[in-house]
Amino acid sequence: MRRHQTWLCGCFATLLIGTQMGCEADYGPLEGSETLDEPELTSTQVAITSQIGDPLPGTDPVAFEEAADAFGDVESIEDGLGPTFNERACGTCHNLPVLGGSGSQIERRFGRLTDGVFFGYDNDEENQGGTLRQLFANGTYDSAGVSCTIPVEVEPSSANINNVGRRATPLFGLGLVDAMPDSFFVALAASQPVAIRGLAQRVRVALPDPRDPTQSVGSMRVARFGHKGLVPTLLVFSGDAYDNEMGITTQSCVAGTSILEFAVENHPNNVQPPAGCNGGDLALANPPGDPQVPEFTDDVVGPCDGGRTEIQDDLLLFTTFMERLAPPPPDLGDPIGTIIGGFNFVVVGCAGCHVPVIFVTPARPFNAVPGNFAFLPFSDFLAHDMGALGDGIGETGDPVAQTRLMRTTPLWGARFNTQFLHDGRAATVRDAILAHDGQAAAARTQFTQLSNFAQRTVVRFVNSI
Ligand code: HEC
Ligand code: HEC
Repeated sequence: MRRHQTWLCGCFATLLIGTQMGCEADYGPLEGSETLDEPELTSTQVAITSQIGDPLPGTDPVAFEEAADAFGDVESIEDGLGPTFNERACGTCHNLPVLGGSGSQIERRFGRLTDGVFFGYDNDEENQGGTLRQLFANGTYDSAGVSCTIPVEVEPSSANINNVGRRATPLFGLGLVDAMPDSFFVALAASQPVAIRGLAQRVRVALPDPRDPTQSVGSMRVARFGHKGLVPTLLVFSGDAYDNEMGITTQSCVAGTSILEFAVENHPNNVQPPAGCNGGDLALANPPGDPQVPEFTDDVVGPCDGGRTEIQDDLLLFTTFMERLAPPPPDLGDPIGTIIGGFNFVVVGCAGCHVPVIFVTPARPFNAVPGNFAFLPFSDFLAHDMGALGDGIGETGDPVAQTRLMRTTPLWGARFNTQFLHDGRAATVRDAILAHDGQAAAARTQFTQLSNFAQRTVVRFVNSI
């Protein structure tokens, strides 16, 4: 295996530690018993891969290749694609500049706000199957002699939050983030000044990762993934994306429980296909009437009796691929510009949320990333009220303030993206900064008050991360 690691160069480390110290005065004291570990660089591994898309150190290259192939695999209606879908492969949306990166695809969501309360079209007589409007459908196909037609989903006319875009985010380094304990994010939030304090949103873990003793059926975890910060693990994201992006449904077993969270197909506007249409695609059906294994779930592991634990293998492969992706390498050219930019980044308040805190994985992570591994994502992974930049999407019953919450986007590797912000509205880092609002409005204003030169150094800094 080629070795891509070089050790973190002193100047970058000094800059980051410098910025961290420089902003210490902005933070309130840590609250409660939670403390942020002050990592010592000497006792941790900090690797910079020389190439974007490389695996983390210690990764078995054969297993990584197999997982990458599954992530890039293009699925067909016979595999269970559809009835509705957004794309045919994970890798089709996550490929900039290499497999596992961001994408140019923009997904669409909708909803309705009535008297300040959000409705997500997922219950009552107006059940249209939720806020995601899949862009494609299986259309007309032949199912054992029956001609079936699946129409494309449309926005209900009563929706007043329309055509909200969601950009595909890059996945590099996210296994390291998955490995971090909840207490780390809780402590980060507690360390932030009240005016910009983020929320560590705890959610139910729909599909527990069997490797993690802190996860079980029904347990809660700090959600750190997705633009809204509502997804707790890479394994859950895998099940969710396979179902909602590609229409491929799965069933897994965890400690004897059949997990059916991702076993139910999305039908266009929640209209079921006619009988004889095999549930909307052409994957092999399962024997009807089994409460553990639904008839039209595409990929199943079977009955979960006897305390069986088995995760559907595609979900394992997707998780393996994402988990082993190393963080994007920083761009260490122009060290002087980067240092000045880093200073200005802290001065105007960007560092409040895009924290220059060195994360260190636990000594023995539950997943397969290296232990005591230091990394710098420049995000608190917390949800913030972003005011007018919020996308207005929530869950049924949410008050309007909840719909403005967005998770701080990590800035590592930002220079590899071709568009920015949750809906891709910003073509440049500068445009992304100028769209900040709500809890980030003060930082945006301070940024605009910098000289043009100083503003450019901030952008330069972001592009170096
Ligand atoms: C149609 C394009 C598309 C496909 C196909 C797709 N994704 Fe994504 N992916 C997105 C978008 C858009 C987001 C941001 C979603 C959000 O948070 O609203 C995203 C976000 C993610 C994230 C969260 C990253 C973060 O920063 O927190 C993970 C993990 C992920 N996708 C994994 C997958 C996996 C695994 C597959 C295949 C099963 C997949 N995606 C297929 C578009 C896609
Ligand atoms: C209150 C917290 C907060 C502060 C302060 C803040 N940001 Fe952000 N930032 C966010 C959130 C949340 C997002 C995601 C917003 C979205 O996509 O709608 C974001 C997104 C971004 C993005 C887009 C990244 C991408 O890949 O899409 C950039 C670039 C960025 N911020 C840079 C900055 C800079 C530079 C500053 C200082 C001028 C700053 N931010 C201040 C919370 C903050």
